[in-house]
Amino acid sequence: MNINIQSFLLNEEATLFDALKVIDSNAQGICFIVDEQGKLTGILTDGDIRRALLKSNTVDTPVKLVMNMNFNALPLGTPAELINSALNDKIRHIPLIDEAGKLIDFASRSRTRRIPIMQPSLSGNEVKYVTDCVQTGWISSQGSYVKQFEKMFAEYCGVPYALACSNGTTALHLALASLGIGPGDEVIVPDYTFAASINAILYTGATPVLVDIDRTSWTIDIDSVKTAITDKTKAIMPVHIYGHVCDMDALTKLAAINNIQIVEDCAESLGSFYRKQASGVFGAVGAFSFFGNKTITTGEGGMLIFKDKETYERASVLRDHGMSKTKRYWHDHVGYNYRMTNLQAAIGVAQMERIEEILQLKRNIAKTYNKAFSHFEGLQLHGEKSETINSYWLYTMIVNPGFGVTRNEMIERLSKNGIEGRPAFYPLHEMPVYAKEEFIRGREFPNSKYVSENALSLPSYVDLTDEEMSSVIKSVEMAFAVKAINIELT
Ligand SMILES: Cc1ncc(COP(=O)(O)O)c(C=O)c1O
Repeated sequence: MNINIQSFLLNEEATLFDALKVIDSNAQGICFIVDEQGKLTGILTDGDIRRALLKSNTVDTPVKLVMNMNFNALPLGTPAELINSALNDKIRHIPLIDEAGKLIDFASRSRTRRIPIMQPSLSGNEVKYVTDCVQTGWISSQGSYVKQFEKMFAEYCGVPYALACSNGTTALHLALASLGIGPGDEVIVPDYTFAASINAILYTGATPVLVDIDRTSWTIDIDSVKTAITDKTKAIMPVHIYGHVCDMDALTKLAAINNIQIVEDCAESLGSFYRKQASGVFGAVGAFSFFGNKTITTGEGGMLIFKDKETYERASVLRDHGMSKTKRYWHDHVGYNYRMTNLQAAIGVAQMERIEEILQLKRNIAKTYNKAFSHFEGLQLHGEKSETINSYWLYTMIVNPGFGVTRNEMIERLSKNGIEGRPAFYPLHEMPVYAKEEFIRGREFPNSKYVSENALSLPSYVDLTDEEMSSVIKSVEMAFAVKAINIELT
């Protein structure tokens, strides 16, 4: 990360107020105090300032009275390995100085490593099983790992049938196709979701009908669904967004009364439960994704789960080119090749072996973030509605407008601190490809818009270290703290 060192410098006559302003503008939590010749004489971090203010100093206190003069500096040009080995939990910044002691640059962990939003955890038997595929030559979709993965997955979800697919989007399309959904049918889908949900409906030729979401769970709003049902409604696609399961009681009742199918988009909800049952078991079909950022991954991959044998068998035929299971090369349907390879499934099996551990780690991350953020009035956490267990696939919260810091300012601050923060999806109805009158029919989407404009996702991968988590928390806290002090003092 390139920086302008001037935005970190203060002279010895500066006050704590000046220091706060410098720290606010550089967003690195540190400033350097230099004498008239530019020689480094002290360092001040946001923590030092906080402690100084607590010890009855004021913002008018000169920095030289509280700055840290006992710092470790290294000569400019010190090899990176040496610098990295000198950085630790206590020493987070190392000034780099020239021969005259003049500050030229500084090193910090956030400048050498960026904390991504997600990354896969492949520390189990993944390499072993993939190697097995390669060594035995079973690399296409015919190998035994595919069946093993399907079996493990079905058992985990508590259903009799699972069908592995090439990705989550093909899984969703196959789910709709296996229920015979096509042109002339309508499928109700939330306005706030990843576009694959609506795309899968469009592939079938059916008409997607967009509805708003609930303001607290951010999942499909039941009252909006009620008003969107017509004679043509064939299915509802609830999306268990970020791992929060929809109100499946209300939806299953509504679907039964109106003779409508439910296809659950569980791409983000493996390990999420509603009334102690896994997401995906409430509708006719549940569709999962194993993209690289998902709770478990196979690189690209997907899975369908079914309670009903007939639907499963129809999906299975359609997945394999529509070819008869008893008469080779005889095609009863125009099918697809949506199969998963044995290589993908090998990774899937290894991931499923660790599913409980992975989910526990995810929940721990959410617990730590929740604890740190719950007292901020400006933040609305996602949480869990009653009867749900959130897998917290991607930790996401709303930065309420009007509390000093906007979502986008927060992302900027995180980025300056070497942390990836991600904005929410756009409302589907705002994108020209989906902004069709027949999809919208005068409905409005205030909650979808609100979540889209203000939600922020934070690093949530299972190998996130405690230290990385504290950096994320500190960055969010600092965004509020600096803003609050500025508002009070100016
Ligand atoms: C809600 C939702 N539905 C569907 C998908 C599609 O899954 P895939 O990327 O595996 O095609 C994703 C994620 O990518 C998703 O987040």
